[in-house]
Amino acid sequence: MIILLQMILGFLLLGIPLGGLAPAHADEVPYIQTPTNVVDAMLAIAEVGPQDYVIDLGSGDGRIVIAAAKRYQARGLGIDLDNWLIAESRANAAREGVSSKVEFLHQDIFLADFRAATVVTMYLLPEVNLELRPRILFELRPGTRVVSHDWDMGDWEPDRRLVVEAPDKPVGPEKESTVYLWIVPTRVAGYWRGVLAGPGGEESVVIEFTQRFQKATANVWLRRWVLTGSGSIRGDSISLSLQRSSWMPGSKPLSFTLRVADGRLEGEALDGEQRYVLRATRLVD
Ligand SMILES: C[S@@+](CC[C@H](N)C(=O)[O-])C[C@H]1O[C@@H](n2cnc3c(N)ncnc32)[C@H](O)[C@@H]1O
Repeated sequence: MIILLQMILGFLLLGIPLGGLAPAHADEVPYIQTPTNVVDAMLAIAEVGPQDYVIDLGSGDGRIVIAAAKRYQARGLGIDLDNWLIAESRANAAREGVSSKVEFLHQDIFLADFRAATVVTMYLLPEVNLELRPRILFELRPGTRVVSHDWDMGDWEPDRRLVVEAPDKPVGPEKESTVYLWIVPTRVAGYWRGVLAGPGGEESVVIEFTQRFQKATANVWLRRWVLTGSGSIRGDSISLSLQRSSWMPGSKPLSFTLRVADGRLEGEALDGEQRYVLRATRLVD
């Protein structure tokens, strides 16, 4: 909230009209540049590499995707409503020798298709982040890294958060920026049917997952007992600690590492010499 007030104050000091900031609409996000060292921090926290396709939503002068292409050989797409900024971005990309790696699109981010991204970057406003959140969660592939300058994503907690000094920041008296990273979690919520194989043989299971962003809880129903537990989701991978029932052999929780892909879930837990394998397919969401 303090940063929002600082940003608003900054806009006023810069003479940028605030008309209708609350509630915000995406076309009212003003043009403010991310300082170069904060761009570096955003690309570093996302661990951008040559395989990546970085899409900056509201790309300004193109600096984020241009830096990603120049420094990490990543491909990039910048999307902005302002045609002048799109023209400037293309000129900047040419000057930096990365025109073959990056594209700029004059479009409203709310109409744009950014599903191909492996990394999404944003310097928008809190309300706009929240408006984009459902699309980020449901359209982007699990594992996509999402980085936001200064604004969070409400009750979707970041996977990482970093405060960096920003002496060149054009807004706010504090001259520092917060960089947030989220990793889009796979969707595991719902019911799954499968098999748990362990030292004693195989048993059919039904798994009930509940999920809140990258946190999950599970009940694994076997014939005579139920395993319950919770875990965290990172991209398409789930680390799940399952507590055994009191009458089940062994006492320590079983720590499963599971992978979810194409409606299938598979992984294992090791308990000393004993190996448990869980395989399941999705029943219903
Ligand atoms: C705060 S600036 C960030 C610029 C750049 N990403 C950076 O970090 O330096 C926000 C940008 O979003 C653009 N913008 C605002 N609303 C938009 C919308 N609905 N669709 C596309 N771009 C938008 C503005 O023109 C502005 O360039």
